[in-house]
Amino acid sequence: MTDAGRPSRRQLIGFAGVAAAGAAVGGGAVVALDNDQQPPPQSVARVISPYGEHQPGIAATSPQHAELVGFRLGTDKAGLGRLMRLWTTDIVALADGRPAPGDTAPELAIANVALTVTVGFGARVFVLTGSKPGGLDELPVMKHDRLEPAWSGGDLLVLVGADDPVSVVHAVRRLVADAQPFATPVWRQTGFWNGTGSDGQPVTGRNLFGQVDGTGNPAVGTPEFDSTVWSTDGPDWFRGGTTLVVRRIRMNLDTWDELTRSEQERAIGRKLATGAPLTGNAEHDELDLEARDADGRLVIAENAHARLSHHSENDGRRIFRKGLNYVQDNGPARESGLIFLSHQADIAGQFLPLLARLDAADALNEWTTTIGSAVFALPPGFQPGGWLGQKLLG
Ligand code: HEM
Repeated sequence: MTDAGRPSRRQLIGFAGVAAAGAAVGGGAVVALDNDQQPPPQSVARVISPYGEHQPGIAATSPQHAELVGFRLGTDKAGLGRLMRLWTTDIVALADGRPAPGDTAPELAIANVALTVTVGFGARVFVLTGSKPGGLDELPVMKHDRLEPAWSGGDLLVLVGADDPVSVVHAVRRLVADAQPFATPVWRQTGFWNGTGSDGQPVTGRNLFGQVDGTGNPAVGTPEFDSTVWSTDGPDWFRGGTTLVVRRIRMNLDTWDELTRSEQERAIGRKLATGAPLTGNAEHDELDLEARDADGRLVIAENAHARLSHHSENDGRRIFRKGLNYVQDNGPARESGLIFLSHQADIAGQFLPLLARLDAADALNEWTTTIGSAVFALPPGFQPGGWLGQKLLG
């Protein structure tokens, strides 16, 4: 963006940000490509506008590299407002590839990496402001949870995503430095995702079990997506916002690897090669939850993850999931897992019943353990001249 807040020529959207196109762009030249079109040549900028009705990172495809930081707040409502104005200035600069004010490593700010910064409010913000969206309570501890404080809770969230890890680390460094008088990091999580096929086309990425993960999501831009994700009621400041559940889920790759391929496929109810349901051929084929094999057994097992989480088995409840794989090294030992991100308008109404159902019966529970949990309200986006959370804090 230019200093005057006008969109610059570089405010373009490439395929990495196509999901957030349209609504996110304030003007200027736009390259918006549908998923089934050719990817842009390398020379086409991949800049996701920081402006829009919604925070643009939410509907954008999972970033290749991401870092999440949970903060504890040490300020009052006015201080939080100051921080949000500061962060808004930072976000506008960083998204455009310019150094933020006070940047101590300005050369690390580079353009065209589809950088997004998403900000969320947690428990203390609702106490300070006296306004909490309905259903936004910490999740009850599930039977299979082994939560560690090191990955849980937080009053404030920053999620930075980009195609380039250096840009992510640089943006986080700036945002954390500017938060210093107001908020202190209490946890950090780093993840990665590959949503591009070998031919350069966007694909549904894979988690570290090797499964195609994200197929059942409502498609961005559809009425189904909008009603799943964006809040239309609750406090005025939250309209056009959404909630985010962050679950750090450890995955036991050693015991998973002991299974046969067909046991692995049975646990999820989908094929590993294509992500197609066990009752279909292509990734996006609908699941046939009634189908039985020659022995009369359900093809998609009673406890298969794809059955238990399917909206038809959950009174139509849907969520919008975005995964980030993670690895955590400790000397020669490695832990692997998924930073599971779920957006929904209402956590208590949409997410919690689904979580409880999966905790009770999901086949995957044998190889997965949730070790971190946090919930946030993500305020709507901002326009040139405005700032994040302005309606709540202004
Ligand atoms: C490490 C843990 C998890 C793994 C490895 C995992 C993996 C998968 C995979 C491979 C699919 C099928 C493809 C797709 O539709 O995306 C799927 C679907 C789904 N999962 Fe998970 N998942 C995990 C945790 C969760 C949790 C905690 C929830 C919610 C509480 C959840 C909710 C869903 C939903 C709603 C679907 C789509 C069902 C549909 O077709 O409508 N998953 N998951």
